[in-house]
Amino acid sequence: MKIGEAIKAGKDILKDVSDAPLLEAEVLFSFVSGKSKEFIMARYDCSVPEGTVKKFFALVQKRKKGIPLPYITHFREFMGLNFFVNRNVLIPRQETETLVEEALRVSNNKEMHVLDMGTGSGCILVSFLYYNKFSSGIGIDISQRAINVALKNSERLNVSKRVKFVVSDFRNFVSEKKFDMIFSNPPYVRSDEVSQVRYEPRVALLGGKDGTEIYPELTAKAFSLLKPGGMFITEIDYRSADKVVEIFEKAGFGRIRAINDYTHRIRFLEGVK
Ligand SMILES: C[S@@+](CC[C@H](N)C(=O)[O-])C[C@H]1O[C@@H](n2cnc3c(N)ncnc32)[C@H](O)[C@@H]1O
Repeated sequence: MKIGEAIKAGKDILKDVSDAPLLEAEVLFSFVSGKSKEFIMARYDCSVPEGTVKKFFALVQKRKKGIPLPYITHFREFMGLNFFVNRNVLIPRQETETLVEEALRVSNNKEMHVLDMGTGSGCILVSFLYYNKFSSGIGIDISQRAINVALKNSERLNVSKRVKFVVSDFRNFVSEKKFDMIFSNPPYVRSDEVSQVRYEPRVALLGGKDGTEIYPELTAKAFSLLKPGGMFITEIDYRSADKVVEIFEKAGFGRIRAINDYTHRIRFLEGVK
């Protein structure tokens, strides 16, 4: 079988499950063959060893069952960096890049001590530290398995000397040293919508009935851990913006600002202690 034939057959199998079946077939082929996408695209007429064909179609079938591509290839691009992912962590979302961009804008490349509450794969904290080389930070997560992934990403992306990861419920986390900035992408999926997400860990998603259950304690905790003048930035469901603004006010935050994602919906709130 030729490379082009395998990829076309893969694309046809994936067309019901994916919005980008050709791209996904190419990514899977690249993954099994160990060659770059560019290499593959330039060699559509070359023959493929039988073993590679078998492995490729086995993965295509997995993907057809609905398993998200990053859980098959164990890789997700975020902020232009390659993050290792597995089923113990939420797959980093493109919109979350806006939170990191805002944190980097505010930090203005100055030295900061930051905290990431619910770090998961570490994508927010690790990419923040990757692009702000003067800062240091702590990532906490209730899941030991998620922390293992975050640790691995900090090592792969060479920020491990400036980061510490702690397994903890954020409610129990204490630190003598206060933070200049705290960010969080907490679980905020509504209970009646969580069944739509089939493969990701429930603990990374479930935000209670209206998706805002975690915010009162999270926001109050962030306030208590910040230095005066420090900033808290959190991701939200756009439908919860008004409610979370009230929660920010109640916790004591000022200069509250809403930030839109690239679809122009309010998806982030920030406030200053
Ligand atoms: C929506 S995921 C975000 C992961 C990652 N920060 C990202 O943006 O892709 C939320 C994370 O919070 C963690 N988490 C949930 N409840 C927590 C708690 N009470 N304390 C600490 N972490 C918690 C979950 O394990 C999960 O990794």
